[in-house]
Amino acid sequence: MSDLQLRILSKLGELGELPSTREQFPDVDPQVVLSALNSLKAHGKLEYTKQDTVYYSLTTEGETIVAEGSHEVKLLQLVSRFGKLQIKDVAAQLGPNGKVGQARAFKNGWLEKTQDNELIVSSKVGDAAAVVDETREQLLRVVKNETSGLGDKLLNDLKKRKLILPKKETTFHVVKGADFSTELTKLETDITSDMVLTGAYKDLKFKPYNFNSQGLPSQSGALHPLSKIREEFRQIFFGMGFTEMPSNQYVETGFWNFDTLFVPQQHPARDLQDTFYLKDPIQSDLPEDKEYIANIKAVHEEGKYDSIGYRYNWNEEESQKLVLRTHTTAISAAMLHKLAEDPKPTRLFSIDRVFRNEAVDATHLAEFHQVEGVLADYNITLGDLIQFMEDFFAKMGVTGLRFKPTYNPYTEPSMEIYSWHKGLQKWVEIGNSGLFRPEMLEPMGLPKDLRVLGWGLSLERPTMIKYGVKNIRELLGHKVSLDFIASNPAARLDEELYN
Ligand code: PHE
Repeated sequence: MSDLQLRILSKLGELGELPSTREQFPDVDPQVVLSALNSLKAHGKLEYTKQDTVYYSLTTEGETIVAEGSHEVKLLQLVSRFGKLQIKDVAAQLGPNGKVGQARAFKNGWLEKTQDNELIVSSKVGDAAAVVDETREQLLRVVKNETSGLGDKLLNDLKKRKLILPKKETTFHVVKGADFSTELTKLETDITSDMVLTGAYKDLKFKPYNFNSQGLPSQSGALHPLSKIREEFRQIFFGMGFTEMPSNQYVETGFWNFDTLFVPQQHPARDLQDTFYLKDPIQSDLPEDKEYIANIKAVHEEGKYDSIGYRYNWNEEESQKLVLRTHTTAISAAMLHKLAEDPKPTRLFSIDRVFRNEAVDATHLAEFHQVEGVLADYNITLGDLIQFMEDFFAKMGVTGLRFKPTYNPYTEPSMEIYSWHKGLQKWVEIGNSGLFRPEMLEPMGLPKDLRVLGWGLSLERPTMIKYGVKNIRELLGHKVSLDFIASNPAARLDEELYN
């Protein structure tokens, strides 16, 4: 039981009833009083009714009067000390309040005016020093909160004279309850089988239900923001007729990650600085399809399928090296190679983790998730790619895209995709795309007229924008707040995503 509850009970025991809690506990916040009363009421200790009372506080002028005396008394004493005072000198002596003091002193019959416009003490006043300062006395009663005896008329008068200010405050009228006592027994919250068996429940006191209580948040698992956004993307892909690729393989050979994608073996991206190579095991076998490997070698070395190639010696061992995949396009390549067995229009996507040996900063880690789609169809063109990108991003409310030519070893033409960022007031890159090169598709055995477009974007970027995450370490790794994960709202990509 709180100290306040004890004090309320003991006061109630002493006085029998408390007409106003404000008078008894002037320093306690009415909200705190209320919660103490409610808890005591639940125990049957007391009953209360709420009342809004008006009380008064002093204005600065009122406070000065309490400290120094009223203007009229000050003037009376001044005149009495000097014997007389020129009316025109009143303001000089008492300041702006002199006028008020003079009017009240006349009204009280303390001062009189001579023919020479001088103030003198009225003969009715015996001893000026013994005159009672009523205004000050009244204000003192206001300070002591004893206003009930003053009467409404007088209070109104003091208010009009701007000496006091009314304030509204809640107070409670408290009377003893049916189970009043000055101490408190703990109330039972739950009935147990023991209480029922022994019959103890008959004598126990139970805490009443509080139906207004909000209740505790229920314990449950929570989806990570990346999983939520990922799921939104998945639904968009499914809605556009795409099938999900199996992407649960982080380690690839250089062959699938680079060579099949027409990335030459001396390409800077294959450097240790950009790619993580495995130490153990260091390499793996190439696929069974010997013809495919021969085609890759040929297209890199001297060219094939109307290409002149890169004109270097393609090294099979280099392509056997194991890497952490740097893009999910390695999966897309393997899936397209499989498609060559039975070529037909196809739509595939994946959303999974990739690794790049890059400098980490507030928005980049050495790994991220890539959202990637590939679409194969007969005789599609750059126009189809642009149209498709516009349709795809429109599903997330992102419209008005711009495209900029770029370079990927495996696509031609290639385009970066930009959208206008309202917050940043600039065009931001939101994806990379292109039409896969014949040098990539034809070695697989895909027919010339079955063309394939592809694009990729990061999952982290829209997630950070959507959830207002400024530092990627708040999203991934040991600095992630579990509260943030548990309480962030559902993802909806139907609003504009990149703003
Ligand atoms: N692999 C590219 C990247 O990592 C994305 C991409 C996929 C581009 C398919 C074109 C075609 O950014």
